[in-house]
Amino acid sequence: MRQSSLVVIANRLPLDDNAAPDGACEWRRSPGGLASALHAILEQAPATWVGWAGGVGPAPALPDIGTLRLQPVSLTEDELRGYYEGFANSTLWPLYHDAVQQPTFDRGWWETYRTVNRRFAEAAAAVAEPGAAVWVQDYHLQLVPAMLRDLRPDLLIGFFMHVPFPPPELYMQLPRRVELLRGMLGADLVGFQREQAAHNVAQLAKKLLGAHATDDAITVGGRTVRTGAFPVSIDVAEMRALATRPDVVTQAGQLRHSLGAPKRVLLSVDRLDYTKGIEHRLTAYSELLRDGFVKVRDTVMVQVAVPSRERVESYRDLRDRIEGEVGRINGEYGRVGEPAIHYLNQPFARSDLAALYLTADVMVVTPLRDGMNLVAKEFVAAREDGAGALVLSEFAGAAAELEQAFLVNPHDVDGLKATLLRAMEADGEDLAARMSSMRRHLTQHDIMAWARAYLSALDHSGRLAERLTAL
Ligand code: ADP
Ligand code: F6P
Repeated sequence: MRQSSLVVIANRLPLDDNAAPDGACEWRRSPGGLASALHAILEQAPATWVGWAGGVGPAPALPDIGTLRLQPVSLTEDELRGYYEGFANSTLWPLYHDAVQQPTFDRGWWETYRTVNRRFAEAAAAVAEPGAAVWVQDYHLQLVPAMLRDLRPDLLIGFFMHVPFPPPELYMQLPRRVELLRGMLGADLVGFQREQAAHNVAQLAKKLLGAHATDDAITVGGRTVRTGAFPVSIDVAEMRALATRPDVVTQAGQLRHSLGAPKRVLLSVDRLDYTKGIEHRLTAYSELLRDGFVKVRDTVMVQVAVPSRERVESYRDLRDRIEGEVGRINGEYGRVGEPAIHYLNQPFARSDLAALYLTADVMVVTPLRDGMNLVAKEFVAAREDGAGALVLSEFAGAAAELEQAFLVNPHDVDGLKATLLRAMEADGEDLAARMSSMRRHLTQHDIMAWARAYLSALDHSGRLAERLTAL
């Protein structure tokens, strides 16, 4: 088996099996923040990505993407249910997102989660060169760092949590809280989106493991694990290049025309997930229509909601509720040929997303809780013209960096309505000033800066310096 000096392990590979019109297998980039972020870095560095290819049964043979090798891990139908849909997405996901949806604690899922985490750890151990750096991603694989250390003590092991890490009061609900904490602390460096998360882990390590812990380092079992905040970002250059391409600029103009050339376009782009606050947003918008603050003939809303985790009941229920509500709003406030909300439930090519971002006068990103939210950053990167307003939830990790956005508490529907109106009515000079400082920040804090900051902190003794210079 070919071995690498840099191995990334993430639940999902950056390619999805998308059946082509003739039924053949056609690979396309998977939607989601993690795949977007890592794809940008790894297509430029010799590395191996260990992950799941999105189906069940034997793992498919996958093509390399440039210098990136893909090492698929197979899952059975039962494992998909217990590990991905169950423990990862029905226990950890809701709990880590402030329990905005009730987490399910099903005792049967734990064993499957452990078995699958071991399979990922073994797959990575098999493709890592002696002394390699292995970078484990996200809540799906929280046990992998400790498992990998047992299998391969020679490795430098990093762990990055893309989603929020909750305060102790919430984390303490987890029946397997000690094992999960020990699993993650098997890494040399544990990275989070925000400093608060490192603080939460330190508190838990003291309480549950009797460790000596500060917000930067935790000493447990004779080892010191470093912790810290490394806010993830986007490929700013890619988005900027797309959004200034003449065909994309033309497409944006055509889109506006197809929307009826309104005075204002409001846009939201989300995975269809209950953490994204889509229902609160629809309530706010519908009340603005009801109270006459927004008129269908001069304002349109575009909601892109790409289907996600559709086999999980709470996601199917959410989709039904959202589609019902969009239908109700359009029925009540739309006119013939002029819907109040354009609802698109499909994946888009990157260039189509760039055209949408260019069309928006107000980008509405209002998750109830989000580790980062890359859509907000993509919108800012796309707006070379300095126009456009960003309405951003205080509960997205991105709010800590994009402070010049119109920040809002999405749980407060009246506050959300007032903020939407403020953003719609803001003058061009104010918007340009806000956009320019957000763009300055993003230029300096792009995805490559994130990878360099994390990997150089992981490799603080410099033993991999030469091999990591490719980044
Ligand atoms: P999450 O990781 O929770 O999905 P993020 O906002 O951080 O949320 O990342 C979402 C990523 O998925 C972004 O890079 C965005 O461009 C991409 N994405 C969102 N919706 C679509 C869509 N309809 N088609 C293709 N990509 C999408
Ligand atoms: O960014 C959080 C995250 O869970 C990623 O790990 C994941 O790739 C993305 O959301 C999309 O979710 P899924 O892989 O379940 O479709």
